[in-house]
Amino acid sequence: MPSPEYNARDSHPSLEGKVILVTGGSSGLGEQCVLAFAQRRPAMIWLAARNLSNIQATITKTREDVPDAAIRPLQIDLNSFDSIKRAASVVLSDSDRLDLLILNAGAMGLPPGVSQEGYEVHFGANCLGHALLTKLLIPRLNETAERREVGDRKPDVRVILVGSDAVYRSPNNTIHFDRLKSDCKEMGTIGRYGQAKLATALFGRALARQSPLLKVAVVHPGVGATNLARSMVEAYPIIRPLVYLSSFLIQSPESGVRNHLWAALSPEIVSGEYYTPVGQIGHVTSEVRNDDLADKLWYWMEGEFPQHGF
Ligand SMILES: NC(=O)c1ccc[n+]([C@@H]2O[C@H](COP(=O)([O-])OP(=O)(O)OC[C@H]3O[C@@H](n4cnc5c(N)ncnc54)[C@H](OP(=O)(O)O)[C@@H]3O)[C@@H](O)[C@H]2O)c1
Repeated sequence: MPSPEYNARDSHPSLEGKVILVTGGSSGLGEQCVLAFAQRRPAMIWLAARNLSNIQATITKTREDVPDAAIRPLQIDLNSFDSIKRAASVVLSDSDRLDLLILNAGAMGLPPGVSQEGYEVHFGANCLGHALLTKLLIPRLNETAERREVGDRKPDVRVILVGSDAVYRSPNNTIHFDRLKSDCKEMGTIGRYGQAKLATALFGRALARQSPLLKVAVVHPGVGATNLARSMVEAYPIIRPLVYLSSFLIQSPESGVRNHLWAALSPEIVSGEYYTPVGQIGHVTSEVRNDDLADKLWYWMEGEFPQHGF
């Protein structure tokens, strides 16, 4: 079990030859992931987010530390199936392997709304969009896991999902399948985020069972000073001073990313588990380990994708 002083940057081997994709890599915890991975010299990091200038800014910042870092921008909006399809096809045509998929992008505090295909926006950005991206990339992940490398070893291929202990804020501690194709206005913004993060954790749980060649884990990073509260501050300016003051009391992004890095790099990871900071199996609600609910969500999403041509 890692100590509270755990420092992934000093604790794990090189990523030489590996291809990595980080969603939400242009800010906060994702940006720290990109930097930490770049220092380990992978063959390629795909940096995925919506805003291209923020992506470019992170690439520039990373190259101040690792001048020849191999990073490519990947524009994706997880609330648009068309955008996800385009992004996945770029990765599939340009990378013949994919070793590490970090499903980190997330949104909190958005006003009521629906995605391009009509799903609640937190659920779309945190869970459903990632589920579609994973579905499109899974052949490449599985092919990579089946490769034979030096010494006849098989590569260690992982999907790491970024959840949140806010799962317990999902109304009635469950997924409201009958409301997912609506703005879920009645749940309130924290309820919508909680539902989306419970769905993220359950998707990870189901993915681990469906994908025996891969190692899959869900991580809660702890509370960190990133841009995550931005939408909430825009919607409720009265909380701005509170968010500002709390930023001095909570983790920096450099510290907040340790659980991501532990799950991505540690040999100790157990597929299907939910890790709280850092590297410890745990959960704020037992629903994150509810296999029946995880399967129900999995097959619900599998029923939705064909309606949109997937
Ligand atoms: N910070 C915390 O205290 C905390 C606690 C628990 C869990 N988490 C989770 O940690 C993860 C990282 O969050 P963070 O704190 O680093 O937040 P952040 O600084 O706001 O970063 C969020 C990232 O996600 C991207 N993103 C947002 N919506 C997207 C969409 N629809 N499609 C594609 N990309 C999108 C953003 O880029 P664009 O806007 O350019 O797309 C950005 O790169 C999230 O999943 C969050 O829920 C954070």
